[in-house]
Amino acid sequence: MAAAVTSSRPYHIIIFGATGFTGQFVVEEVARCAAESPGGSSLKWAVAGRSRQRLGEVLKQAAGKLSMPELRTDIEIIIADVSIEESLAIMCQQGLVILNCVGPYRFYGEPVIKACIENGAHYIDICGEPQFLESMQLEYHTKALDRGVYVIGSCGFDSIPADLGILYTQRQFKGTLTAVESFLNISSGPEGSSGHDATWQSAVYGFADSGSLRQVRKKLGHKPLPVVGAKVKKRGFVFFSKEIEQYAIPFMSSDPSVVKRTQRFLYEDEHQSPVQYSAYVGIGGVFSVVKLFCGGLFFWFLVKFSLGRKLLTTFPSLFSFGFFTKSGPTMKQIEDTCFSLTLFGEGYSEGTDPMQGRPNAKICTQVIGAEPGYVATVSAMVQAAVTLLNELHSLPRRGGVYTPGAAFHKTSLIERLQSHSIKFSVRN
Ligand SMILES: NC(=O)c1ccc[n+]([C@@H]2O[C@H](COP(=O)([O-])OP(=O)(O)OC[C@H]3O[C@@H](n4cnc5c(N)ncnc54)[C@H](OP(=O)(O)O)[C@@H]3O)[C@@H](O)[C@H]2O)c1
Repeated sequence: MAAAVTSSRPYHIIIFGATGFTGQFVVEEVARCAAESPGGSSLKWAVAGRSRQRLGEVLKQAAGKLSMPELRTDIEIIIADVSIEESLAIMCQQGLVILNCVGPYRFYGEPVIKACIENGAHYIDICGEPQFLESMQLEYHTKALDRGVYVIGSCGFDSIPADLGILYTQRQFKGTLTAVESFLNISSGPEGSSGHDATWQSAVYGFADSGSLRQVRKKLGHKPLPVVGAKVKKRGFVFFSKEIEQYAIPFMSSDPSVVKRTQRFLYEDEHQSPVQYSAYVGIGGVFSVVKLFCGGLFFWFLVKFSLGRKLLTTFPSLFSFGFFTKSGPTMKQIEDTCFSLTLFGEGYSEGTDPMQGRPNAKICTQVIGAEPGYVATVSAMVQAAVTLLNELHSLPRRGGVYTPGAAFHKTSLIERLQSHSIKFSVRN
């Protein structure tokens, strides 16, 4: 590790929320990463959370699964609770980077970011909630910049594949890339795929509070990004996509918000031409359209009322058609699931003026990876942390609140991901 630990700050990485469904995968990934690092033990790490006993069990389980008995004895446990400010301060004073796995972030994230900034630890999360991500930028960017701390949200499946996928597409395109449409496809095995309850809760409360995002954006006060090249028309709410040969709908994730923030940063700080972006997800055949339409209407209705939200969060499996469960996906579901994100880009070839005429060049790239929610997410989060530790000098300015694309556009994160579980390629 290029970044050095000291006796008073002894850990490169602290995994906060290590007992959670996702946190446990992060523990295994960091353990694998530490074992791979030259010298075997050069990556120093610890786990943090509310219960010593539960954290001990997580380490024991990881030790058994990875055949690394040393995890039970060598890895320190730090007790920290979001509601106890002092415990967060003590945790943040001990690590160079905090990997925050405690969510939903709208309820638990802010005190952790505040403690990181005040105590000089960099912060990485896997949040997919635009309200939280943008309000943290509004509230903490200047403070983080002043303290030389990086706060980098959405370093999981939300939104590394899309955000870095566009940077990759821009690099491969010979000319000026002006627009990208992405299509997500998730394929699963005979048992299907599912997500854990905390992600469902994040979605329920996020949709319920979509109005607050408009307020945050008003306060951020950004001017609209210039449209370079031909303006891309948004597709309908449901349409048959010839590109992926199935019905598709707009992908309501944090990807469009994160990509736009990255494109704004690259335009304002690096004077790069901004790319217009639309995200879609494949949903299958006519039956899936009908099911989604009925489920979606019901969801929109329930999410508006507190009783409705109570029902949605008490019975996640019922209201999500089994797609989110309190127990999370099984190992078999995880092993059999993978994702592909196909990006269709257009722009102007070298030597042509993007302000004149129609786009005259196209490109298609693909980002593929293992199961998105836990395998790809965790790999992306850990590689983001390793990149931050090794290439700190290549991150923008000397701190601040950033998207993954803005933070890592001058680093080797894409190359690191290529040799782990997310692959970027150009499709012919
Ligand atoms: N971007 C992506 O693609 C992606 C993928 C997966 C997950 N996520 C997000 O990651 C977050 C975690 O998801 P999950 O499924 O792992 O959730 P989870 O299983 O419910 O885990 C939540 C964790 O938070 C801890 N926690 C709760 N309250 C706390 C407090 N007051 N102080 C300290 N720790 C506290 C829990 O610790 P205890 O054991 O003490 O209860 C547990 O470790 C969610 O926001 C989810 O949306 C994002």
